[in-house]
Amino acid sequence: MNQKEFEEKCSIERINTNSVKWDGLKKKFGEDNLLSMWVADMDFKVPQEVINVLNKKIEHGVFGYAEIKDSYYDAFIKWEEEKHNYRVKKESIRYSPGVVSAIYWLVNILTKENDSIIISTPVYYPFHNAVKENNRKLIISDLKNNNGYYSFDFIDFERKIVENNVKIYILCSPHNPVGRVWKESELRTILEICKRNNVIVISDEIHHDLVLEGKHIPTAIIDNYKYEDMVITLTAPSKTFNLAGCKNSFVIITNNEIMEKFDKYTSTVVRVTNGNEFGYLAAEAAYTQGDRWLNGVKKTLKQNFDYMKETLERELPLAKISPLEGTYLAWINMENYIQNDELENIIQGKCKLAVDYGHWFGDAGQGCIRINIATSKDNIIEAMDRIVKEIKK
Ligand SMILES: Cc1ncc(COP(=O)(O)O)c(C=O)c1O
Repeated sequence: MNQKEFEEKCSIERINTNSVKWDGLKKKFGEDNLLSMWVADMDFKVPQEVINVLNKKIEHGVFGYAEIKDSYYDAFIKWEEEKHNYRVKKESIRYSPGVVSAIYWLVNILTKENDSIIISTPVYYPFHNAVKENNRKLIISDLKNNNGYYSFDFIDFERKIVENNVKIYILCSPHNPVGRVWKESELRTILEICKRNNVIVISDEIHHDLVLEGKHIPTAIIDNYKYEDMVITLTAPSKTFNLAGCKNSFVIITNNEIMEKFDKYTSTVVRVTNGNEFGYLAAEAAYTQGDRWLNGVKKTLKQNFDYMKETLERELPLAKISPLEGTYLAWINMENYIQNDELENIIQGKCKLAVDYGHWFGDAGQGCIRINIATSKDNIIEAMDRIVKEIKK
């Protein structure tokens, strides 16, 4: 689908639709009157094919206990193989309502209190919380930041793993918020380090379909699946197709011992082994019929990002915009214009924007803001206008 057609079909107003992003502003930011560019869902209507399938179910009018159809698994398996060269077997797939839920579960399944878990910061803040709220020890290894382009500091990463006897690494691939799509060589080095130190990798690949530059490589397939038994892959159609509210995510485990523990935990402790029928129907429809829509989204994201980048480079040349290889979350370092402790005052107080602040993602994110660009071009233009005008004052 081209960008114009996408805009015509999928642009939509979300205020007063019970959305966290728009209707939850007061709760999160203390005021309603903000242009919302924070939490990661899209201001776009989902593929019409998904709506049709859900409509059919609603019109039938019965919402009793539902079977999970083989075609749901087939759709996901085919998608992973065709889009990512990832061969997933049905028996390796488990359900979780969300990727974050799965991370919390796995922290409990694979470690005990006070065990160490490492993350690469700045990174999605629920990674921090999953460790801290479960009374595990959070070990932080900052990514190296070269003028907005982030990469791993492998020496620091391994030193901290060894010093703290780390049990799990939670990897974000593609990386929210710095927008990197990790290269094969980077993933291989990470896996080698984890392997020699007996560290299990939880690979959060929820953004894997939203790649604008480069190619996403599933962690588990590196070197012909050499490391797959020490990797647990988490993914979902929720970011790709804007279905987060449908609560349907995939956990992929090939290690039998881990699978046994996972099954025991989900069937006895949390007692959640499957989800709401709407989530299954939406996921299957999206994976089998959502491709044109996804093309349209990607073109729209690229257009929005290019506009943002060109505007900032022209008007505020000292702002550093990280290259957006993947995700729809632009990461901008504003510290040459705004001190970190003034960021909220200016961005929310003066520009009236709701964004994610860099320090939410760890100290390494200080001075930065994260802007969700999965919205209309008009909103992007308006947001840039407000920032440029305020800083130029
Ligand atoms: C890296 C990453 N993981 C997980 C999530 C949330 O996943 P879920 O809603 O499935 O818990 C997000 C949402 O922004 C994310 O960016």
